[in-house]
Amino acid sequence: MDKYEKKILAITGGVIMLFLFSLLYAKVSRRIDLPECTPYSKIYNEPKVVKLDKDLYQVFVVAQMWQFQPEEIYIQTGSTVDFYLTSKDVVHGFNIFEKNVNLMAVYGGINKMTVRFDEPGTYHIVCHEYCGIGHHNMEASIVVNSKGAK
Ligand code: CUA
Repeated sequence: MDKYEKKILAITGGVIMLFLFSLLYAKVSRRIDLPECTPYSKIYNEPKVVKLDKDLYQVFVVAQMWQFQPEEIYIQTGSTVDFYLTSKDVVHGFNIFEKNVNLMAVYGGINKMTVRFDEPGTYHIVCHEYCGIGHHNMEASIVVNSKGAK
């Protein structure tokens, strides 16, 4: 084996180890959850907020030109929320601005992410994938308060 090939293999191995370490660091030290893909089912096409327990929610978000449904989501402070995201048409983005959540809404696919809301306030959801002429108007919000309601 040529000495340059060995060098390139060593550098490639080092870069792969760096990526693996970064993932491990994000998961363990920064507690950043990685998005999951869920098998497709029609039940995810119905936008809704389901309260499973006093601090546990499931939110089914449907993106379509140019809105998210539900448009306002009410969550009790200190809750954990499983977001299930799909699209009715083109690819949309799903970014919870204050939470470092970044998902893609894809027709025929479900992306899931779990998020914990410890601080009360309003969290903004924006579409960050260009999806047509109304893209800049595509937003929604999550209101976190002690009642979990308006
Ligand atoms: Cu939806 Cu941009």
